[in-house]
Amino acid sequence: MKSFAFQNAWRRGCGMLCAIARRHQALPRTTKKRLAGALFLALLCLAFIQSGHLTTEEKIDALIAQMTIEEKVGQLNLVGREQSVSPDNARAGRLGGIMNYVDPKEVRAFQEAAAQSRLKIPLLVALDAVHGFSTDFPFPLSQASSWNPSLIEQSSHWTAREAAAVGINWTFAPMVDLSRDPRWGRVLEGAGEDPYLGSVIAAARTRGYQAGGVAATVKHFVGYGAVEAGREYNAVWIPPAELHDMYLPPFKAAIDAGSMTLMPAFITLDGVPATAHRGLLTDLLRGKWGFDGVVVSDFLSIHELQQHGIAKDDADAAREALLAGVDMDMMARVYIDHLPDEVRAGRVPMPVLDEAVRHVLRLKFRLGLFDKPMVDPTAVAAQLQTDGALQASHAMARESLILLKNDGVLPLSKAVKHVAVIGALNGMDEGVYWTDPAGFPRRPIEALDQALKRLAPQLDVTFAPGVKNTCGTEWGDRDAALRAAREADVIVAYLGEDCKFLDEAASRTNLNLPGVQGDLLRALKATGKPVVLVLATGRPLVLTDAVEESDALIQTFYTGTEGRIAIAETLLGLVNPSGKLTMSMPRSEGQIPVYYNHLPTGRPELVGKRYQSVYIDAPNDPLFPFGFGLSYNHFVMSDVRVMDAQVPRDGTLDARVTIRNDSDVAGQDVVQLYTHQLVASRSRPVRELKAFTKVLLQPHESREVTLQVKATSLGFHDDKGCYRVEPGPFKLYVGDSSLADLAADFELVDDGKEQSAECTGF
Ligand code: NOJ
Repeated sequence: MKSFAFQNAWRRGCGMLCAIARRHQALPRTTKKRLAGALFLALLCLAFIQSGHLTTEEKIDALIAQMTIEEKVGQLNLVGREQSVSPDNARAGRLGGIMNYVDPKEVRAFQEAAAQSRLKIPLLVALDAVHGFSTDFPFPLSQASSWNPSLIEQSSHWTAREAAAVGINWTFAPMVDLSRDPRWGRVLEGAGEDPYLGSVIAAARTRGYQAGGVAATVKHFVGYGAVEAGREYNAVWIPPAELHDMYLPPFKAAIDAGSMTLMPAFITLDGVPATAHRGLLTDLLRGKWGFDGVVVSDFLSIHELQQHGIAKDDADAAREALLAGVDMDMMARVYIDHLPDEVRAGRVPMPVLDEAVRHVLRLKFRLGLFDKPMVDPTAVAAQLQTDGALQASHAMARESLILLKNDGVLPLSKAVKHVAVIGALNGMDEGVYWTDPAGFPRRPIEALDQALKRLAPQLDVTFAPGVKNTCGTEWGDRDAALRAAREADVIVAYLGEDCKFLDEAASRTNLNLPGVQGDLLRALKATGKPVVLVLATGRPLVLTDAVEESDALIQTFYTGTEGRIAIAETLLGLVNPSGKLTMSMPRSEGQIPVYYNHLPTGRPELVGKRYQSVYIDAPNDPLFPFGFGLSYNHFVMSDVRVMDAQVPRDGTLDARVTIRNDSDVAGQDVVQLYTHQLVASRSRPVRELKAFTKVLLQPHESREVTLQVKATSLGFHDDKGCYRVEPGPFKLYVGDSSLADLAADFELVDDGKEQSAECTGF
């Protein structure tokens, strides 16, 4: 590869120098003189190249200058293992990348074939390494629940390192879609409902992946989480101000953190398919945000432009997607089949094709693939399931558990001698969805009953699934489960969603515990024994009944390789839970969407009053609010104050609060700061998270915490996508959930400087 890069550098360097020489008519006329001149130039070339002055862009120019149309289009072609493609395609220069290959020998065979192609351009090797590779990490929604960006970054980092060990250099993550609708199955891949928290996490995950050696893909641009009625792949309607204030910020954060690639969503946004959305992909992303990486389509989504009704055939679809700004075609093969003719017919200008190729080549240079494309299959094993990865997964799992209810049964007291673990999720093998890395063997996960026995050998732990399989749709040995429950001091019901109930293409209208698990829980409660409900779900469920039928409730969104150990540690009090919800949990499906940062209404809720914005059959508020989660501590916050209640538009809000741990154990809490602009030119959300920090306090420790917010982040967008920071009165609230009730006032003051509206509309 080095020699390849060198040859091109040589060609390019010589070409440039010759051009300069010619322009200045410096070439001597006689053959002898020509030869001497050529020699001189060659030496100059050599010196030039060896001095390392050739930029990546010049190397890319040199490559593009040599490519045929077919070779160019080949770079835009991304194929998958499912298509049984032969490495010969790489040898023929017809592949830009492959996906879902996890066997290092197979990956190497493809790279070797690419190295034998005319231009020896290495391949991108992609995979959805969403929450781990060989070591499984908690699902992203679980990770987000930790409110710990540094652990989240570590999780992505180790995921990337393990994936890179088998030759993968690109992952389709992080998904940063803001999700307010738990009917949508993919909420588990994201960070929940808040744009600020979502942005912090988007940046952390992007940094983690890329530092671990794979290019990140921020996805799905944009609005996928708002599919109408929560139905997968459905249309999306988002007004511009809302799009800019809520949905776009996590994408911008990931791009600012350096995300090398981006994926448009399957959906139509306000009637325009995201895969052919020039406004989003070119005007905003490249024009305003300066993105110079690769835009890769989602799976077959270019072909699907026909179903969206904006293309009459694949050729049309290919042209529209490329002209809108999609560089690579994932799986549809419509670029490779149709773009050459589209270019030759003049319907796609060559510079547009060249630009897409440039993005792909730039990514390959950025990843260092020209210098080091080959994976060493013999070196893989030592890089998987290392202590570092396991520790990171364990630390992540420990902080991702959310304690939603505790009537005092947790942590299990010394008096508890006998625990019955009931429910098939006790031993299920997590990560069997498509987010599983294409069949790559993962470290087995210890069952909860086994982890409890190992960590507390004095405990008598029995296990009975009660239901037939992890889907929970059919009874197994119900009597055995109830017998075990009756004999125990405490019942741990380990229930949730599995099988078809979560992830892509798993939208639900009924957010109950699938199958007979609700009945199982009721029967367990009827035994009269204390019930600790441990939930593993892919989304917030409707837990109104489950809360009544349990004495303690731990919510997890799947917890990875070390997860059940972390759950056992939490039950036993070896770990103090510190996770907080990042999505509000509805009381019923009818409340959806229910989220904390909604606008005020002209007729706010007044309990029992009609003609207000209320339901006649349920309260407005969710069962559990955004930001909520208990611990084994009693934390008290007090003395909130702002250091200067007059904040200039270019200044910083500086707030202080005291937090005290009124208990005998150390523990962590998340101090959250919300603001509300009382009067502005548009109605502003009742609360918006603007800062948070997770603090560890020793028993009875008290500490003053500082939270700072840049005044420039207190603005909002108008209908044209213009950002304004308007002076006026604000309230701030500090606490450990979005119900935070410590309040203070401040004012954003006009600094006399003219504000130029920053418009990112398209
Ligand atoms: C479809 C999903 O929408 C996307 O997120 C994923 O990266 C691709 N499939 C590839 O697996």
